[in-house]
Amino acid sequence: MQIRIAQDAPLGVRTGALVVPLFSDAPLEGVARDVDGALGGAVADALEAGEIKGKFGDVLLLHAKDLPFRRVLVVGLGETAKFEPMLLARSTGAAVRYLGRRNVAEIAVALPPQARENETACASFVAEGAITGSFDTTIYQANPEKKLAVQTVVLLGGGLDSGALQRGLDRGVALGEAVNFARRLAVTPANDMTPTHLAAEAEAMARESGLGVEILDEDRARAEGMGSYLSVAQGSAQPPKFIVLRYAGDPGSDELLALIGKGITFDTGGISIKPAERMEEMKYDMSGGAAVIAAMRAVAALKPKINVVGLVPATENMPGGRATKPGDVVKAMNGKTIEVINTDAEGRLILADALCYAQKLGATRMLDTATLTGACVVALGHAAAAVVANDDAFAEEFLASAKPTGERYWQMPYYEDYSNAMKSDVADLKNTGGRAAGTLTAAAFLRAFVDGKPWIHIDIAGTAYVDTETAWQAKGPTGTPVRALVSLVEALAAPAGSRDRNGSAKAGKTEAKTAV
Ligand code: BES
Ligand code: MN
Ligand code: ZN
Repeated sequence: MQIRIAQDAPLGVRTGALVVPLFSDAPLEGVARDVDGALGGAVADALEAGEIKGKFGDVLLLHAKDLPFRRVLVVGLGETAKFEPMLLARSTGAAVRYLGRRNVAEIAVALPPQARENETACASFVAEGAITGSFDTTIYQANPEKKLAVQTVVLLGGGLDSGALQRGLDRGVALGEAVNFARRLAVTPANDMTPTHLAAEAEAMARESGLGVEILDEDRARAEGMGSYLSVAQGSAQPPKFIVLRYAGDPGSDELLALIGKGITFDTGGISIKPAERMEEMKYDMSGGAAVIAAMRAVAALKPKINVVGLVPATENMPGGRATKPGDVVKAMNGKTIEVINTDAEGRLILADALCYAQKLGATRMLDTATLTGACVVALGHAAAAVVANDDAFAEEFLASAKPTGERYWQMPYYEDYSNAMKSDVADLKNTGGRAAGTLTAAAFLRAFVDGKPWIHIDIAGTAYVDTETAWQAKGPTGTPVRALVSLVEALAAPAGSRDRNGSAKAGKTEAKTAV
């Protein structure tokens, strides 16, 4: 998909469809009013007839015969007071999906008047939404029926500063492509998306993006003492791969943020095997890992002044002849022993060693993300991901930076009670804590592998994939939490101006070295 800015007057633009915003409480202002005039009052008629109300997600297609733009798609943005730039990602995504299904190859998107206060953010969301709206899950179909036709999106600048718009657009493209990259990795079935394949994808991305990359194989993981991670891998015929991605955007600093993602390429449950119903969804059990790999790609493109390492312990969880058995005791990299009560609680076992390894690499802050517990879906449904932290200031920073992205996060508490539930009779810890507060006992388990450094855990079991489509998003993997991870990295990075030693570089541009 090609996305560019044009400063043409909306009514003069030559395109397949002009996409025009409409608010439910302030109908017919700006471009909507001009278009209504050009169409002889057709928009006002539709409003009067109740065909469109401007509610968020409403769409109305009008033909504009003999005008340079051949169609108008009026898209509802909801109430003026509730406007936020993120809504432009959804409205643009909805336009791409609606018009793309109707064979329109090029569209021009007009901005609402509010973009004047916030043109960079608005342009970023338009680009992000155009790209994520066009995500295609039909990669295995010979003749896909639902291919979306939109190839070109023109953002109508409306006289706003082109430089500010272009910066936003570039960011939105990097973010949208990263989100779709994570979704492609996640949707690819486990017979293709093995740990080896995931590592190869990460390696190829790293070489293209100028990131440092290292893949630890089974022998290396053993030499590092990752007995907890390897206990999950040992039931599988597929070799485990521990993926390490490095971005050094602030070589003068000792601060290092570690992003850690669960990379279970398929979760059968192991010997504590899962029921057959919906087990196919467990190909998505590497969604956290996919998000970390994809976020690192966006970070490499955006070049913030910060050091970030991305860690993805990848393995299958299979019930093989050598598989871990309930009751087995394994030892993690930090020397702690774990009694494996249920082999289906495997995510925490691989993340334990990844947290230890992050600290060995010198991480000063850690964030892990995982499709960790079914209990998270019970608690929050598909509406939000659960956040648990050992440091309220870090949690606050994460929640604040995630808010404008549109991804939803809800902080849950930590109490020592949850850690007590994870005590074993024979080992330091056990890997399950009973039915109560399953998301929080899992988090308490992970916390035992964090040595006092600020840490956040994000359980994405309910938000990593959805089985209903929306106007702006296909069903399947969502790419969560790529947007929030990138936003956090940007928030933690030194401000743009401080990277500029001679006072001439523009925000978003830096000379920081990305390769290690
Ligand atoms: N990958 C699953 C969690 C999951 C379940 C994600 C449903 C998405 C949808 C995880 O490995 C798991 O099996 N967790 C167990 C833990 C239990 C055995 C303590 C669970 O939640 O049932
Ligand atoms: Mn499991
Ligand atoms: Zn799992």
